[in-house]
Amino acid sequence: MRSLIDITDLSVEELNGLCETALDIIARPAAYADACRGKKLATLFFEPSTRTRMSFEAAMYELGGNVLSMSDAGTSSVTKGETVADTAKVISCYADIIAMRHPKAGAALVAAKSGSVPVINAGDGGHCHPTQTLADLLTIYREKGGFDGLTVGMCGDLLYGRTVHSLINAMSRYSGVKFVLISPEELRVPQYVIEAMEKKGILYEETASLEEALPRLDALYMTRIQKERFDDAEQYERLKGSYVLDAEKMKLAGPGCIVLHPLPRVDEISTDVDGDPRACYFKQVLNGKYMRMALILKLLDEAAKDPEKRGLPAGDPVPAGSAASARRCRNPKCICAAERSIVHETTRSDDGTLRCIYCEEPVGRE
Ligand code: NCD
Repeated sequence: MRSLIDITDLSVEELNGLCETALDIIARPAAYADACRGKKLATLFFEPSTRTRMSFEAAMYELGGNVLSMSDAGTSSVTKGETVADTAKVISCYADIIAMRHPKAGAALVAAKSGSVPVINAGDGGHCHPTQTLADLLTIYREKGGFDGLTVGMCGDLLYGRTVHSLINAMSRYSGVKFVLISPEELRVPQYVIEAMEKKGILYEETASLEEALPRLDALYMTRIQKERFDDAEQYERLKGSYVLDAEKMKLAGPGCIVLHPLPRVDEISTDVDGDPRACYFKQVLNGKYMRMALILKLLDEAAKDPEKRGLPAGDPVPAGSAASARRCRNPKCICAAERSIVHETTRSDDGTLRCIYCEEPVGRE
């Protein structure tokens, strides 16, 4: 069974194919109005969400399907101690496809390994958020006409901002893309994201200055400082408000520099930017719904054709039962820390580093 856990579960051809389907849905919505008649999407959200959950639900309704929604984990059996794995098994009996958001990295992968229907990762802690990336890609495609050769600035909380990790992983696969990573020292992108860029020979630079980077960018991706992921409240207080994009700073950007943001914004984009024709963050919201429609169609179609097909986590899985596969993940932000029943597994990077398959943090060396 094919799930979408990480954006690299989809090939470049598949990403382009999803963009094409989304554009066709925009052009001919009536042709898709019954495409999922009789099918049910379950939305399981163990973390707050406005647009992602409603976007999935609107997508399923516009395909003629139905929705089972769990938006408040406080009212579910999770409060009685039910594991993600059991929850996925149970929901698989009711729904044809699951969209899940959870505060721990790797939770969606656990659900995909246990459930018997496709699982879509709608955000797993600070780890990744592949369907926001689909929204971002369609927006870039529509505004810039493609991805090759673009210089993309990522600004704000690059450590905990899961949308950043997924977008870098996706765009790294197009040719000539460069990244300018703009963040305070403490909020630089995690090492596994850097490694993925280096492995593909992607050009990137890290800077703390938005002003210095702005004139060189084709797209600027602003992000919120992720208050809920900080262990140290004082550190958050110190770093919040690090970057504010306003109409004055936009004068430094080129005429073709689009501004993206996954939303919600706090104060990192001033409302005086909203009227700028380069501001595309509300277009992203709409594009996200169309891409989720395209994704639901694709995964349900594949599930119907090949019930055994399943996406594997990126990297070389270490054979189960080997000493390395039993190496324990100690990341407190990983689903392994939250649920004792999870069998710890690792993948091996080229340099011999073993990484937890759920959160991608290192667990040791071979
Ligand atoms: C993002 C998320 O949840 O990671 N929001 C979204 O899904 N559109 C970004 C954020 O919360 O800052």
